[in-house]
Amino acid sequence: MLDCDHNKDQNLRIFCNSVSENGYMGKKIYHFSEVESTNNEAKKNSHLQSGTVFIADRQTKGKARLGRQWISDCGGLSMSVLLKPDITPEKAGLLTLVCGLAASSVIDRCMIKWPNDLVLENKKIGGILCEMSKDDEGKMYVVLGIGINLNTKSFPADIANKATSVFLNTGMNTDKSVFVSKLLESLEKYYQIFLNKGFDVLLDEYKGKCVTLNKEVVVHTENGIEEAFATDILPTGELVVKCLSGVKNITSGEASVRGVFGYI
Ligand code: BTN
Repeated sequence: MLDCDHNKDQNLRIFCNSVSENGYMGKKIYHFSEVESTNNEAKKNSHLQSGTVFIADRQTKGKARLGRQWISDCGGLSMSVLLKPDITPEKAGLLTLVCGLAASSVIDRCMIKWPNDLVLENKKIGGILCEMSKDDEGKMYVVLGIGINLNTKSFPADIANKATSVFLNTGMNTDKSVFVSKLLESLEKYYQIFLNKGFDVLLDEYKGKCVTLNKEVVVHTENGIEEAFATDILPTGELVVKCLSGVKNITSGEASVRGVFGYI
């Protein structure tokens, strides 16, 4: 069901078009009524300044991790941030986790399912899709795609038992412009810590929010499915799992992890 009253997003439109008081993140924000994917929009415009933001009321081909689809109606926030950090691609992969921390800290009681799911009351309330690429001059850039179920009123039957929204938890609509402003401020804070001090100083906070740790999980990889116990997260962002075949470090690009008894 699409909840597309564009007048409701008038505040967001004004916020995006205003001469921004924002810091480095979101100094320039592009706002669309409809695009295929804000991540694709950011990639098409990779020549723009680092920190440029792309927001859409609705995506027709929203993308999630591991080639999955992200369903986003107008109640949700679909936003991508173009970043040009001067770091190696291995380190840039950690931005998924950094962004997860930044986003979770602007949603009351929000936790993280490794690596990139935002979780509230054991249900998914949002997700992060970090894509890396190179511009025409061969310089690496990163697109951080953030999808958050803000004012979504209901979900399709097949995901209703594992998805939730801020509205379904609080009974209140969130003003998207206020939310985006807080989110960008938080993202800027965590991004700067990451660039200046590395992920090591954020690791304990990430672990404290991670619902995957110390749980029995099912690890899905290209090679099959394996039951395991999640024991740790490394400074590289890898999840350490103990399974019958031994201890393994898994990277976010190669596996999805579910709880043995359901989503968490
Ligand atoms: C996931 O849960 O695996 C990640 C979901 C990421 C969705 C966001 S919505 C904004 C941006 N544009 C996309 O196409 N995807 C991300």
